[in-house]
Amino acid sequence: MMTGQQPIIVLKEGTKRERGKGAQSNNIMAARAISDAVKSTLGPKGMDKMLVDSMGDVVVTNDGATILKEIDVEHPAAKMIVEVAKSQDEECGDGTTSAVVLTGELLKSAGELLDQNIHPTVICGGYKLAATKAKEILGKLAIDIKPGDKKTLRNIAMTSMASKSASQEKDILADVVVDAVTRVAEKHGSKTVVDLDNIQIQKKQGGGIGNTEIITGIILDKERVHEGMPREIKKAKIALVNAALEVKKTEVDARIQINDPTQLQAFLDEEEGMIKKMVEKVKKSGANVLVCQKGIDDIAQHFLAKAGIYSVRRAKKSDMEKLSKATGAKVVANLDDLSASDLGHAGNIEERKIGDDKMTFVTDCKNPKAVSILIRGTTEHVIDELERGLHDALSVVKVALEDGKMTAGGGAAAIAISMGLRDYAPSVGGREQMAIEAFANAIEIIPKTLSENAGLDPIDMMLEIRSAHKKGKKYAGINVNAGQVDDMFKNNVIEPLRVSMQEIEASSEAATMILRIDDVIASKGGGGAPAGMPPGGMPPGMGGMGDMGY
Ligand SMILES: Nc1ncnc2c1ncn2[C@@H]1O[C@H](COP(=O)(O)OP(=O)(O)O)[C@@H](O)[C@H]1O
Ligand SMILES: [Mg+2]
Repeated sequence: MMTGQQPIIVLKEGTKRERGKGAQSNNIMAARAISDAVKSTLGPKGMDKMLVDSMGDVVVTNDGATILKEIDVEHPAAKMIVEVAKSQDEECGDGTTSAVVLTGELLKSAGELLDQNIHPTVICGGYKLAATKAKEILGKLAIDIKPGDKKTLRNIAMTSMASKSASQEKDILADVVVDAVTRVAEKHGSKTVVDLDNIQIQKKQGGGIGNTEIITGIILDKERVHEGMPREIKKAKIALVNAALEVKKTEVDARIQINDPTQLQAFLDEEEGMIKKMVEKVKKSGANVLVCQKGIDDIAQHFLAKAGIYSVRRAKKSDMEKLSKATGAKVVANLDDLSASDLGHAGNIEERKIGDDKMTFVTDCKNPKAVSILIRGTTEHVIDELERGLHDALSVVKVALEDGKMTAGGGAAAIAISMGLRDYAPSVGGREQMAIEAFANAIEIIPKTLSENAGLDPIDMMLEIRSAHKKGKKYAGINVNAGQVDDMFKNNVIEPLRVSMQEIEASSEAATMILRIDDVIASKGGGGAPAGMPPGGMPPGMGGMGDMGY
């Protein structure tokens, strides 16, 4: 006989819940679907993805962070993987695909342990020990970058661009990148600090990638507003104004009754007088260049031209800030406040024709740390992908310069870690040993995938690379161009230590976080509901990403 205990309902109707093994395997599958989606882009021989958004806009990229930013992910665990890419991007600007692929593989290995009834807490404990050991091994493997060693920085830039479409022109681009980063680097005591915000990136369609150049100054994607203004000004005194040089239009509809023509003339004269006064204020300050964040109307343009003031209108806020930093000018919001002390200084301002457009070049600035890169390329897609490649390269060079440490790429560090962990695991023993060994297997996914993407046989390559490491060749990695195992330092495939460290950190944290979840409670309409979801939890929009393998 039932004692008749009523079930207590604590969750709102429509809430979906999945617990225990079901929740775990579902989360693991979703996370792996994401990592499989970006896997084929890893490395110099990786493929590109074409992403089409709901508006039909197309992005062609090889950049893991960009792919994950562009696709709509619904499953909560999948979203956590997207976060891995984001944090990797924020910390180092490179290594995003590796971090995501590694997270997926850590979860796959963990899944196999779960199937053998090993408790998630034990796996997480083992993974934590493994991650700590891995970082220790990496630290020992790292080599110092000598101060002023531009050749090494250049190789680091080249390695990060190897996998981007820019790879054919990477010689020129690497020089641009190293030049830009070393110029803006600052010494704070014994520390070197690089603020990449000091490097302005401007894009202009036309010309080849090879026409990309570094400008020591600021570039405005603006022409002078009037043909009558000088095209070039030496010893520029620059006013930055965030106010319109126009007669204010009233908010309400006002109507003026004009009864005779003289009244009309008087009205127009009044308007002209007001504008003239505004221009007078600019002139009085001593400025010979005006960069206005708002509009400059026709009459004002005429007077400014007459005064010989090079003027630009509707400048972007970010460019105003960069100009202020570069020239020492203060942005003035009210023309009445403009005085000589607000002006900035630059040796030269010039309008130049780039492609089909005219741009304003502000060079020889008061602050020598103002640096811009003008990206050129035949199409918008090429330029955008180039910009992503440059972002990665600038970031790695920054990180390398700040930390002064590097490791070997091409999977060399991964193999060293994997072998080191296998040696270390027995000293821990028990079931955690199994988790550490699982970690050791998982990290081999990097050289395996690099081989696979290069059309090499991953099994052969893994045998070869392991045997090289056993012989003490600790920098042996996959030379994807030659299709063989080589010393990566000798091949100049080098990365900043911080990138590899962060990959380990981000992926092990995300994997353990996902493993600890044994209960997914999703409120109605609240994102990826676990039950009834397609395996892997991909929204229909991801169908175009290719076969996810689920
Ligand atoms: N010439 C090369 N030979 C072998 N591996 C390379 C070479 N150049 C770069 N790599 C490797 O490619 C990987 C990076 O690929 P990438 O597609 O940029 O992904 P991520 O987003 O992780 O940076 C790193 O493991 C790096 O060591
Ligand atoms: Mg990269």
